[in-house]
Amino acid sequence: MKIDGKHYRTIWLASDGWSVEVIDQTKLPHKFEITSLETVEDAARAIKTMQVRGAPLIGVTAAYGLCMALREDPSDISLDSEIAFLAEQRPTAVNLRWALDEMRKTVQNLPHDQRVAAAYARAARMADEDVETCRRIGEHGLEIIKRIAATKKDGEPVNVLTHCNAGWIACVDWGTATAPIYMAHDLGIPVHVWVDETRPRNQGAALTAFELGSHGVPHTIVVDNAGGHLMQHGKVDLCIVGTDRVTANGDVANKIGTYLKALAAKDNGVPFYVALPHTTIDWTLDDGMKIEIEERGADEVLKMPGRLKDGSVVVVEIAAPGSPAGNPAFDVTPSRLVTGLITERGVAPSTREGLAKLYPEHQSR
Ligand code: MRU
Repeated sequence: MKIDGKHYRTIWLASDGWSVEVIDQTKLPHKFEITSLETVEDAARAIKTMQVRGAPLIGVTAAYGLCMALREDPSDISLDSEIAFLAEQRPTAVNLRWALDEMRKTVQNLPHDQRVAAAYARAARMADEDVETCRRIGEHGLEIIKRIAATKKDGEPVNVLTHCNAGWIACVDWGTATAPIYMAHDLGIPVHVWVDETRPRNQGAALTAFELGSHGVPHTIVVDNAGGHLMQHGKVDLCIVGTDRVTANGDVANKIGTYLKALAAKDNGVPFYVALPHTTIDWTLDDGMKIEIEERGADEVLKMPGRLKDGSVVVVEIAAPGSPAGNPAFDVTPSRLVTGLITERGVAPSTREGLAKLYPEHQSR
């Protein structure tokens, strides 16, 4: 998608042909800064500290991280240990594990001197595939938006509520939840997005609003607790969120607070869709309650970064001194609260049967 008229992906190979460059998301929306990842440690740190974040982008970054590790040492011992090292950086988004499995399958049976080239080729293809997958998710989700738009009076926008950032900045391009929105907007269908600010890290206010604004999509930032009220007053036509992991029975892990939005949507008859690529489905689990939920540091809750008038960014304390804080980063929305899963293969009910029909090649347990 575009920033100031220039097309960007979120990750690309640098001109040296082996390191990668990424948009540093910890600096947004205050500064647009590109940072270089030159070692597997750089890639791991970028994932852990959320310089890169969002399930699909974490996966592609890890894939390139492994490429850089194999440049240093292409042995089997290095392959195993670096995969384990990268996988442990963030536990909930299953794309990370999927991407590393793909990389292992790509190189493990090759002679050592062929591994690096093969790894880079797979990582590049993974990035391209993610773009195409998100584009297709957009096409399928667009049909839902079109159907709602057809019920509107002239010029009235379709109001979409989204949580966290499942935009292009969380993927390689397009985004998952945002792809249908961008497509509708580009076709001239009036859309307006309610952007949950998404405490504690404010991915909505900082990132979703940044990217929607950069692309010219009308949107309004609301505090996380506003969604239920907006739905009660008929101001939300549908919710579309992304996800970090969907289990084989259709339970959905996503940024903390998603579950409450799904409950409010159910109570108010608002359709609640989850957009995802196949790389986010965990076929090994059949119960969302078994998903490991990342617990992040208390500082994310107790402190807040912000920009001063002179442009400098400072971090301030916002809580009672000395109080402890808990910070579960994700929650699980049971499949019964999900209207449908928007995938690159179409829209399915959020059930074992719905997923199995779209992906017959996977036999869930
Ligand atoms: O902790 P984050 O910012 O990586 O969490 C991201 C989300 O919850 C996204 O909604 C999810 O990864 C989908 S991204 C297409």
